[in-house]
Parts: sequence; C-alpha cells; structure tokens
Amino acid sequence: MSLLEKFDRYPLTFGPTPIEPLPRLSAALGGKVQIYAKREDCNSGLAMGGNKLRKLEYIVPDAIASGADTLVSIGGVQSNHTRMVAATAAKLGMKCVVIQEKWVPHFDAVYDRVGNIQMTRLMGADSRLVDDGFDIGIRKSWEAAIQSVKDADGKPYPIPAGASVHRYGGLGYVGFAEEVARQEEDLGFRFDYIVVCVVTGSTQGGMIVGFAAQDRAERVIGIDASGTPAQTRAQLRGIVDGTAELVGLGRAVREEEIVVNPDYAYPAYGVPSEETNAAIRLAARTEAMITDPVYEGKSMQGMIDLVGKGFFPEGARVLYAHLGGAPALNGYSYHYKDG
Ligand SMILES: Cc1ncc(COP(=O)(O)O)c(C=O)c1O
Repeated sequence: MSLLEKFDRYPLTFGPTPIEPLPRLSAALGGKVQIYAKREDCNSGLAMGGNKLRKLEYIVPDAIASGADTLVSIGGVQSNHTRMVAATAAKLGMKCVVIQEKWVPHFDAVYDRVGNIQMTRLMGADSRLVDDGFDIGIRKSWEAAIQSVKDADGKPYPIPAGASVHRYGGLGYVGFAEEVARQEEDLGFRFDYIVVCVVTGSTQGGMIVGFAAQDRAERVIGIDASGTPAQTRAQLRGIVDGTAELVGLGRAVREEEIVVNPDYAYPAYGVPSEETNAAIRLAARTEAMITDPVYEGKSMQGMIDLVGKGFFPEGARVLYAHLGGAPALNGYSYHYKDG
C-alpha cells in the first residue's frame, strides 16, 4: 500500500520517469559498477520539467483549496524552482511572483536574461531581482513579496525555496521511492545505491522516508551542493521528521539513515570546480546526458569520485537521480565555450 494514498495529487508530470542504463559512463569509470539514471529531468512538458514538479503535485491541491490567486516563491537568479513555480502558475491560470536572489557570484553578462529566468519571465511571472546572497532559509524578501500581493488585494500562496520547508514538500519524493520499487519488480533486480543532489532538502528528504519504508534509506547517498552542509542537514532532518509523521511511517528515522556527503560543493554554491566541469563533460560525452554546474554536475562529480574510491562494492547497481537543471547552463557560457 502506498504511503501517499490519503493525499491529493494534481498531475503536472507525464507519470513514472524512465530508468535507463548508462553503459558507456559505467565503462569509462572502470566497468566495476553498473550505473543507471532515473530521468526526473524528462518528467514533464511544463517548461522542461525537473524535480520540483514532483513536489508541487502534492502542494497544488492545497493552493487551489486555499482560494489563492498568486503563487509566491523564491530562489536564485538561475533558479530551476522558480521556473517550475512559474510554469505551475501558468498551467493553473494563477499569477506568480518570484524573488530571485543573488545566490551566485556571477559576472556573465547575460546571466539574468537567459535559461531559467528567461523562461520564468516568458511564462508571465513577476520576477523580482534582489541583492541578497545564498541562504536556503526563510527570507525577508519572500515575506515582503507575500505582503505585496496582499497589499494589492491579491491572495498569495507561499511556496518556500525548493518547495522544501512546506508541510507537503517531501511527499513527491516519497512517491519516487515507491515508483523505484515498482520499476525494480519489472527490471528483476534492486538498486544497491541511489545518488542524489541535495540543497534545500525535500528531494532527498522525501526519498529517505520512502526508502525507510523499504528499510534501505541509508542507501540514498546525498551529495551536498549547497556548500552550507550543516544548514542543509538540519533542514533535511526537519523535513524527514515532518514527512515521516505526515505519511505515518510508524517509526523515527535514525540519524545514520540520513547520508549527506559534503565533499563536492566546493568552491561554493553555484560555482563549478574543475572536477565538476570534468564530470559534466564526461556524462555529456559518454551518454549525451546533460548536467549543470550548480546541482547535477556536483552530484555527478560525487558519484564519479565515489566510484573511483571504491565506495560502491564491485557489481553494485547505482541509480543516479537526474533532477533536471540543464537550463542554467545558458548562464555559464564562458565556462564551456570550448566544450
Ligand atoms: C536541478 C536540481 N537538482 C537538485 C536540486 C536540489 O534539490 P533539493 O533542493 O530538494 O535538495 C535542485 C533544487 O534545489 C535542482 O533544481
């Protein structure tokens, strides 16, 4: 029985996402582990999709029931999340206000005009740039945006950064864990590890609760891309506890079931290292799988490094959760001008 049966879901995605083997990447890493990807980046026709839509599917029913007319959210200038909130608002026929903070020290001349923010504006969202730096917590600028909608006689529905610190933010990725288990039945094997990027926490948090119900949460390896891992871990812990309680997991999630590796976020959130860029190129050149310098490039880098270090036993099947994010590449043209 699904842990999610009692919750309303508003479909924004195509349905279960495909799992595909990555044989050329596996071979390039020595062939001792078999790498697969679950393509959350291909999950929807809404503005190129990504992990936030799986979360928003469980938040939208509450937004509709509240009678709201405006979704209000927050992220960085090249936020995938604000793109997804703008897409959801357009699809629902709601208005949208998004705060875009200066989360990344970036000097590319078109950084605030291309990729995610360009699509966000195209979909009609009121995108407001502010100067505050990176922080995954609740922000004054977001609270001010919520107030500004009220002041204009609108009815805001607040969605925090990454849709994470929201009562229903973790539910979508509980569903991911259940979906993987169903797909494993068809495949005839189980994955030994799941690798996932973590920043605001509800993607991995939901997975941990979903896989805890299958007694394998510690096999979810979070790769931190925030560069503020203590804050991310604390937020993740809260999301895990809140979501476990909400779905009726029936037990507390143990600290060792929450695995976050902080080693790959350097030099900072949104700034790729040479190793990040090497990982992005390898995935692109072996599998035509496009990852970005902010999120998936870092989790790809982490997975590659962990394979090299022998972290995964020989013969292990590793499932890389590809959460989306490729539109941000447009803001990093200088890094990749020569490929
Ligand atoms: C492409 C991509 N990957 C990974 C993440 C991290 O997910 P979360 O914020 O739920 O930890 C995000 C969003 O923050 C994202 O947009």
